[in-house]
Amino acid sequence: MNNGRERWASGLGFILAAVGSAVGLGNIWRFSYVTGENGGAVFLLIYILCIFLIGLPVLLAEFSIGRKGQADVVQSFSATTPSKVWKIGGILGVFTSFLILSFYGVIAGWISYFLYSYITGTAGAVPEGEFGDFFGEFISGDIAPVFWQFLFMAFVIAIVFFGVKKGIELSNKIFMPLLAIIIIVLSGYSLTLDGAGEGLSFLFSPDWSVLKDPNVYSSAIGQAFFTLSLGMGIMITYSSYLPTESRLPRAAGQVVVLDTLFAVIAGVMIFPAVFTFGLDPAGGPGLIFITLPEVFNQMGTGGTMFAILFFFLVAIAALSSAISLLEVSVSYLMRKMNWERKKATLVAGVVVTLVGIPSALSQGGPLSEYTLFNLPFLDLIDTITDQYTLPLAGLIIALFVGWGWNKVDALKETGLTNSIVGTIWIWFLRIVAPSGILWILVINIRNLF
Ligand code: PHE
Ligand code: NA
Repeated sequence: MNNGRERWASGLGFILAAVGSAVGLGNIWRFSYVTGENGGAVFLLIYILCIFLIGLPVLLAEFSIGRKGQADVVQSFSATTPSKVWKIGGILGVFTSFLILSFYGVIAGWISYFLYSYITGTAGAVPEGEFGDFFGEFISGDIAPVFWQFLFMAFVIAIVFFGVKKGIELSNKIFMPLLAIIIIVLSGYSLTLDGAGEGLSFLFSPDWSVLKDPNVYSSAIGQAFFTLSLGMGIMITYSSYLPTESRLPRAAGQVVVLDTLFAVIAGVMIFPAVFTFGLDPAGGPGLIFITLPEVFNQMGTGGTMFAILFFFLVAIAALSSAISLLEVSVSYLMRKMNWERKKATLVAGVVVTLVGIPSALSQGGPLSEYTLFNLPFLDLIDTITDQYTLPLAGLIIALFVGWGWNKVDALKETGLTNSIVGTIWIWFLRIVAPSGILWILVINIRNLF
């Protein structure tokens, strides 16, 4: 039935693509400001626990559903068990990945604009203390944010257009080593700065008092999901292009370890620089658009080079994540509508870009007055996906593999039959992951009122 389905050229290609999806704005932009806002080291510790106790089991669950299903995310659920209800998890995945991509493209467009502005010299010439205005003026424009969003999305569409092997796999084989080199060079340079000690102690020496704040836990679980690209069908879609003999648990472990390394190294790159120039580590989402550029400009001549490499790094990381988001919709449309890849890519890509326009214009621009729950469009979509549909889909996935799917089959699919690891995995999916996820869902719903 699946004859002719696209495949990865190699197991390494699959892992690099999965890492490419995982490593993105979440590791650099989101991880650093969330860690900054939640007090640093203790948050990091809780976050790493969440990654291993909840993220890893759910990631392996997604891998096994996709590989078993050999189909897009919705069909993969139906192919795995006869019961129809679980398909909701797949539908939520398509919905969430589509919405996330709509605004992910906007933020990636901002990054591209900063890269461009450092290359042309305009960003380097911004006077001290005025990046807030520079950034604010750009995002509140009525053409510029849309233009840069479109440009970025054009790259995403072009790569997905070429398919699993020649588009997604090949691009990630180039991007991932490049990312690793750039981030290591930049963090090495950061460590030579005067504030390195202070930055590192912020990141690694704990202030236990934050343990009392329940929001720290929900932020950590939320960040774990986001950073591993869970709950939106990406890992299911990607593993559906795997041949049956590959080893899933090892692949899941590798993806988790690499993603965590990228986040920690990103912290080592960012915090020493922030402390060296006496800026606030809890700068919020503006951290990499306002705080860091201030840092770059104060570094003198090396600063522009650092800035160009930095924004190039972030742009590529965002590109490989955006590709994976688009692929979920593309593979769904290819099966559901029986379209060719090229048609599915163009339709999904263009529609998601158009849906992103209101987000692009909501940050001080012409649409910023239209709010719901007091949130401008971009923040609204971000909140809906990140805090509600994403954990909900994750919950369904955990419960599905823990309780819905026949345990024997699930263990067979992962090669964990009769092993202690397998038993632990199933029980984590049955109890630990769902309780953690439910808890943050409750906290997030309570925050509504
Ligand atoms: N995991 C990506 C990151 O850390 C974010 C992402 C979320 C990518 C959802 C794809 C889908 O930035
Ligand atoms: Na990530």
